[in-house]
Parts: sequence; C-alpha cells; structure tokens
Amino acid sequence: MEDCVVEVKGLWTQFGDNVVHRDIDLCVRHGEIMSLVGGSGSGKTTMLRQMIGLERPTRGDVRVFGVSLQSNDLSALRKLRDRWGMLFQEGALFSALTVFDNVALPMRELRLLDEGLVHDLVMMKLDMVGIEPRHASKMPAELSGGMVKRIALARALALEPELLFLDEPTAGLDPDRSESFVTLIQELHRELQLTVVMVTHDLDTLVALSNRVAVLCDQRLEIVGTLDEVVADPHPFIRNFFMGERGRRALEAVRAVKAIVSMT
Ligand SMILES: Nc1ncnc2c1ncn2[C@@H]1O[C@H](COP(=O)(O)OP(=O)(O)OP(=O)(O)O)[C@@H](O)[C@H]1O
Ligand SMILES: [Mg+2]
Repeated sequence: MEDCVVEVKGLWTQFGDNVVHRDIDLCVRHGEIMSLVGGSGSGKTTMLRQMIGLERPTRGDVRVFGVSLQSNDLSALRKLRDRWGMLFQEGALFSALTVFDNVALPMRELRLLDEGLVHDLVMMKLDMVGIEPRHASKMPAELSGGMVKRIALARALALEPELLFLDEPTAGLDPDRSESFVTLIQELHRELQLTVVMVTHDLDTLVALSNRVAVLCDQRLEIVGTLDEVVADPHPFIRNFFMGERGRRALEAVRAVKAIVSMT
C-alpha cells in the first residue's frame, strides 16, 4: 500500500444539485509538491478545505497522516491541526492585527509558549520569509501584495508544520514577485522537508514547483502524474491549459533546465 500523507477516497461533494466532485481518489506522498489544477469553480479550494477539515465531503473520506478527518477523536484531530499550515486564496492576513500579531496568532492559540519565546519565534519566521524586523509593527494595509503573501506564509509556518497547503500562492503578484515567491517555496520545501499541496492556475508556478500534478475536470481527476505525463493527456482542458502560447513557453523552459541538469 502507498504511504500517503493526504489520502482522499471516494470523495463526493455536492451543493444542492451542483455536483462538484464525483468519486475522487488521491494520494499525496511524503515530501512531494502536488499541484491541483482545474478550471474556475471546478472545486480546487473546496478540496483543500476538505483536506484541513474546514468542510465535510458529502461522501467519502479524507485521511491526513493516517487519521480520518471524520474521526470523533477530538484530541487526535487537534494534534493533527498543528502538523499542517495553510495559505488561503483570499486576503490572507487579519487586517486589524499587526504583522507581528498575525504571525504570533497560531503560537498564542497554543497557550504553551511565553511571550518572550513567541517574540523570538515570530522574528525567526519573518526572517525565514525575507521580511525585515522593521515591518513587524506595520498593519497589513501598509504592505505590498507580495509582502502580505510572505507574511501569510510565515503564519502558515508558525507551528513548524510538516504539511503545507497553498491556495493560489502567486495569484495577483507581478512576475518578479511571483518568481521570488516561488524560489522561497522551493527553499522552504527543501530545508523543512515539507509535503506541499498547492492549487494554482499560474503555469510558471506550476512548472517550477510541481513534482506531480492532479487535474480536476468534469468533476473527476482526469489524470495524476508528472508534468510530462499530464501534458500528453488529450483532454481538451489540458490541451488548452498547457498548449497555449504561455504554456508552451513554460514547458520549453523547464525542458531546457532539465537538459542542462542532466548534462552536469
Ligand atoms: N459553501 C458552498 N455552498 C454552495 N456552493 C459552494 C460552496 N462552496 C463552493 N461552492 C461551489 O462549488 C464549486 C467549486 O468552488 P471552489 O471555490 O472550490 O472552486 P475553485 O476550483 O477553487 O475555483 P477558483 O479557481 O475560481 O478559485 C463552485 O461551483 C462553487 O460555487
Ligand atoms: Mg479557489
């Protein structure tokens, strides 16, 4: 049996007559970056929310580190929550809290750490995502979009998770900021040996980060595989997604990099 950090089995999601997921199975392996792509409204965010127990599937089960999120064992579920971090798609920070307090929030909720330690840990997390200490006392409204994403990432990393969920991490960032955010995720993934589940519609981000890609279309997973396997799939959504001008350029770039790496 495969060793899955996140295991989705027979997932069925329905809002009234709107069937979003139809019998989906998925296994996210330890240490990989798994990207989830699909059209707008195909149910990517819903699936991430189901993976952190914020929403219940209509049918089926989600297990994280072997524990079913449907379990009634509250203490097991609470422990599980400290093992993952999530970067949400929309406005990721609390606007009424400073940068410092945003990152401190999950640490304070634990009620185990004294304020001195919280301070040191917050400053360490900010440093990890490239935010200078002078920004700690600022309010989110004073920051650029790229900084907000970095601070939201620092908060997702606050409790040193083993598993990180990212919903559209580079959406709304200009190409330079997007590229440096991708580099940051690559570094953190390597240094912290994280398992990552990421939703993105940005091809550059997808190509740069994914070990495997899962494509959601027609309420099912059309394919789960490496980028090369996925681009060979004939489904019209996939052809459109990867074979447009931008898609072709991104794929050519990744193949060129692979060729260089294999020569060295
Ligand atoms: N709480 C809810 N009640 C009713 N319908 C919902 C609810 N949450 C999501 N939906 C519906 O489920 C579908 C999937 O939504 P979801 O937000 O997961 O899509 P998505 O793939 O993340 O889209 P996007 O790329 O636009 O972010 C949509 O049709 C949405 O309207
Ligand atoms: Mg979404």
